[in-house]
Amino acid sequence: MVDDARLRPAMDDDYDAVVAVVDSWWGRTVSASLPRLFFDHFAGTSLIAERDSALAGFLVGFRSPDQPAEAYIHFVGVHPQLRGSGLARRLYQRFIADARADGRTVIKAITSPGNTNSIAFHAAMGFVVHDRTADYNGPGRDMVTFVRTLGPSSVRLSP
Ligand SMILES: CC(C)(COP(=O)(O)OP(=O)(O)OC[C@H]1O[C@@H](n2cnc3c(N)ncnc32)[C@H](O)[C@@H]1OP(=O)(O)O)[C@@H](O)C(=O)NCCC(=O)NCCS
Repeated sequence: MVDDARLRPAMDDDYDAVVAVVDSWWGRTVSASLPRLFFDHFAGTSLIAERDSALAGFLVGFRSPDQPAEAYIHFVGVHPQLRGSGLARRLYQRFIADARADGRTVIKAITSPGNTNSIAFHAAMGFVVHDRTADYNGPGRDMVTFVRTLGPSSVRLSP
């Protein structure tokens, strides 16, 4: 169970611990897609999950400076031995709650068409999965896009 994993905002110096595990957690080389800039500039909107002070999972995301209604999730990962217990769901719920509190109403993410795990996970998280977009990231680099539009918050505002 990972109910005891503690979630906190990331800090810039979390980068080294995260980049050290991503290739093994993904089972392929993905670290080039997670450069340090994400922790230098978006740590405050990204999340770290820890269990007994060890890295259990992380989410890298930000609120778009150019699209005021949107927030974007770039990477989410959970330690292979801790998967299937709802930790990624908790990370998404926390990111989405923080984005909603900042007035964001649309959450976006993308993946490569072959990443069936990511597609299944995002569908389970309530995202609409759009058909692959040809040449999305340049010639020959098709991507699948995910969009989740947030409904009205159940939190009542004070009169
Ligand atoms: C994808 C990943 C983050 C999921 O983490 P997790 O903690 O195991 O996910 P959760 O336990 O919170 O699952 C949340 C929901 O997604 C579903 N889900 C998660 N992984 C799934 C998979 N591989 N296939 C189908 N459904 C999946 C779960 O069934 C659950 O749905 P439910 O609550 O309706 O049953 C994890 O497998 C991972 O780190 N994978 C490698 C990195 C990666 O591919 N990241 C995504 C792209 S950035």
